[in-house]
Amino acid sequence: MPKLIVTTREGEEREVEGEAGLTVMENIRDNGFDELLALCGGCCSCATCHVHVDPEFAAKLPPMSEDENDLLDSSMHRDESSRLSCQIPFTAALDGLRVRIAEED
Ligand code: FES
Repeated sequence: MPKLIVTTREGEEREVEGEAGLTVMENIRDNGFDELLALCGGCCSCATCHVHVDPEFAAKLPPMSEDENDLLDSSMHRDESSRLSCQIPFTAALDGLRVRIAEED
């Protein structure tokens, strides 16, 4: 099973077994990180699944859609590494992916 390494807002890092076929957001949520609200359930309309992705994995991520880009613009904490985790399918190619849950807007 591919691994996913999640850092919480408090800076606690935890490695979890990811499930390929789910999104990164679903993997984070299903592993009990309740600070990732993911309010819209993955429809790309809330931005509460915002994470910062380790730049090492940037090239392996799917390109960002216009909707994701627009939604991320609504966050005060957007930076180069920002993505909406519901828009990233988790796959074996992303084994070892590191993400940090973004600051709350
Ligand atoms: S869960 Fe709402 S945009 Fe990702």
